[in-house]
Amino acid sequence: MPIDTKAIEAAKEHFGKVLTQQLERVETLKKGQEWTDFSKINPIIVGIIGGDGIGPAIAAEAQRILEHLLKQQVDAGKVRFRTIEGLTIENRIAKMKAIPEDVLADIKKCHVTLKGPTETPEQGDGRPNIESANVSMRKELDLFANVRPVRIPQDGIDWTFFRENTEDLYALGSQGINVTPDVAIDFRLITTQGTERIVEAGFDFAKRNGKTKVTIITKANVVKTTDGKFLTIARNIAKRYPGIEMDAWYIDIMTAQLLNPLRRSEFQVMVLPNLYGDIITDEAGQIQGGVGTAGSANIGKQFSMFEAIHGSAPRMVREGRAQYADPSSIVRAGAMLLEHIGFSDLGMRVHKALDICGQYEKKIVMTGRSTGATGKDFGDYLMATVRDPRINERWDGYVKATTPKKS
Ligand code: IPM
Ligand code: MG
Repeated sequence: MPIDTKAIEAAKEHFGKVLTQQLERVETLKKGQEWTDFSKINPIIVGIIGGDGIGPAIAAEAQRILEHLLKQQVDAGKVRFRTIEGLTIENRIAKMKAIPEDVLADIKKCHVTLKGPTETPEQGDGRPNIESANVSMRKELDLFANVRPVRIPQDGIDWTFFRENTEDLYALGSQGINVTPDVAIDFRLITTQGTERIVEAGFDFAKRNGKTKVTIITKANVVKTTDGKFLTIARNIAKRYPGIEMDAWYIDIMTAQLLNPLRRSEFQVMVLPNLYGDIITDEAGQIQGGVGTAGSANIGKQFSMFEAIHGSAPRMVREGRAQYADPSSIVRAGAMLLEHIGFSDLGMRVHKALDICGQYEKKIVMTGRSTGATGKDFGDYLMATVRDPRINERWDGYVKATTPKKS
């Protein structure tokens, strides 16, 4: 067969459009933006988005804890909750939009949102090929830092992942091209501005929290241009943070090191491109006790969105187990939301309740099926713990009893 030059021309034209979009985007990024100062906002609007599958049920558990903790602020008019409807797979397919316009407009009326997982049709599953609502929201609201903490105090693990959230294979994930029936190409995007801001976010976090090491994770030995750029930029930025050591690892060996008890407690802050971050944070969540236990903050300068790190679990719903879905991940995200809008003490209370109920005391255990508790029962347990005036003493006691002594 002769080379299909027409197909090549069509692909080039498409590529040209993609490049134009991205060069324009970079110009916007160069302008920079100020961070929202929550101490100056009144009222702070907190949107609640149920999502699909197990989403509405687990989001409801997080919502009631937030509403309880913020009652005073709500009564004083400082915080307002707002329910956002319509971010469902049915409505998104009906409107053929990753996020229908009226829903996006509602989301933009909130300073922060707590979002249940949303379902994404997979290419070839018979449904229209709409983009993931998560990915779209991250791009639309420019939520560039996906912050995912994982802590297992008894194993000396205290990791915070800074996953870049708007670039890499995700940026153009629905704009790849089938050049011919035999050749498919996706595009991987790394920009200077996009890399600088995530690396700085990681180092700033390290500095604010007394961390001494930031680990940059790439595959720059193979993916030379884009990962090479990410790593080079990180090395330059690291020079501005004396007292914080930067080390660099490749993603493959890093996934192994997270399982290495001799090494893993050395890692503190990890900064990495989008897809590697997606994969390794599921692994890290599993090490902590399951992806259902880890929270995720999607931080932008203007807006932020907090969510579970897992999906909408259509399998659980199909098998009639939705009521057994663990709300811990989205509750953890709720704790991060509280911290982000300036209520660190309240956020800490939720983190402590999650540690006590999920890791230490475990009076109620979830198995994801009828052999364990329901999400509602676990939500009651968390709520009772959050309300306990002795929560700090309880938590301190467990931490003391289980933390290994440093020799
Ligand atoms: C996550 C999820 C999403 C992602 C999916 C649902 C698109 O896995 O938040 O990690 O890949 O980012
Ligand atoms: Mg993921």
